[in-house]
Amino acid sequence: MHRFQYVKGHLWVEEVPIQKIAQQHGTPLYIYSANTIRDNYNRLAYALSVLPYQICYAMKANSNLSIVRELVRLGSGFDVTSAGELYRVIEAGGDPGRCTFVGVGKSTEEIEYGLREGIYSFIVESEAELEHIERIARRLRKSAPFALRVNPNVDAHTHKKITTGLYENKFGIPYEAIEPIYRRAARSRYLKARGVQIHIGSQITDVTPFEKAVTKMLPLVHSLKDRYGIEFFDIGGGMGIVYHDALASGKPEWWKARPEMFTPELYASRLIKHLLPLNIKILLEPGRYIVGNSGIIVTQVLYIKKNISKTFAIVDAAMTELIRPTLYEAYHEIVPLRKASASATKILYDVVGPVCESGDYLAKARALPKLKVGDYLAILSTGAYGFVMASNYNARPRPAELLVDGKQVKVARRRETLKDLIRGEI
Ligand code: LLP
Repeated sequence: MHRFQYVKGHLWVEEVPIQKIAQQHGTPLYIYSANTIRDNYNRLAYALSVLPYQICYAMKANSNLSIVRELVRLGSGFDVTSAGELYRVIEAGGDPGRCTFVGVGKSTEEIEYGLREGIYSFIVESEAELEHIERIARRLRKSAPFALRVNPNVDAHTHKKITTGLYENKFGIPYEAIEPIYRRAARSRYLKARGVQIHIGSQITDVTPFEKAVTKMLPLVHSLKDRYGIEFFDIGGGMGIVYHDALASGKPEWWKARPEMFTPELYASRLIKHLLPLNIKILLEPGRYIVGNSGIIVTQVLYIKKNISKTFAIVDAAMTELIRPTLYEAYHEIVPLRKASASATKILYDVVGPVCESGDYLAKARALPKLKVGDYLAILSTGAYGFVMASNYNARPRPAELLVDGKQVKVARRRETLKDLIRGEI
């Protein structure tokens, strides 16, 4: 659910009409709704509340400091995947002692940084990495807390570029190889087995793969707890959001009509029965679920261009603001800020940006009410993996980000200037 809706024919975010802020701050523009983020976090937390649990928000989805600060206030821990993300958590006032540090290629500097800051646990993706962590911990005379990332070989049935829990993916250590590594680690003074982790992929809307992966892990978690005293089982992130019908999904009635959608309640009810008897702390690493539907991009139509077979709406946002359509063939709903009448005729547009690439599109063959130059459009569900994947390709300054909370509009990141583009170059 989210806080974007038409009020008397104009799209609003929370208590603010969007066109007004778009005119004030310019486009392309990212806008986030603080209350949507809070609602999502609290809904998941409430669904899990019978468990001993800790949410570790996946920073990679959106690491803007204003959003991270909100999550710190809500009591979230964080899943970081680089020194940069850990730095952002610390800058936002987050506690490294509630951070997991995941990733297949942690550098020496990153491991040292994590150890010095006292992170809760490294999530280790290979035996070679664990040996490297041990060497560094010995040099720093510290004990490094770790959890192995288990690859459970469960198909998450999601896009091939965002599935991670199969043996053909680079992530984790095969289930069968796990126990001997904990056994060897138990002999080291510089390693402390703190938990075990899985993460099978992203944008998963069916609860069954989560349940499969968790049930497959149960005997292993029991055994690691008994033998090595691990204190947590991290079940990863991956909870899917609504992309189709994203605007309508802001209304609670919509959810009742669509039992196939991911909901925290269904997720919790299918998993709690397996997790509760483990009597161990459960960590979760949701990213997209918390922020995905909380963000939009506002863009303005620059030109309408017709060729023999197509009509292009050329807008001022591009693959540099949102790479998901071209990278994953992802669908993002696009709606005009001023609502068209129900009887308005629709035209099929390719919505494309100014970047010099045929892959620079935001939507293909999309039915939209007839557009004209200067019209504002909102690209929905861009709160996760939007701005964080933005680039300066074609020397385009990255857009501003605003955080809206009720009536209050705050600049969470100012628009980059031309000068920002050459900062650091010699
Ligand atoms: N934990 C780990 C270890 C991960 O690798 C990820 C995401 C998450 C948690 C959070 O997953 P989420 O709850 O957000 O699904 N750029 C792609 C998504 C890549 C996800 C990478 N890992 C996209 O735009 O769809």
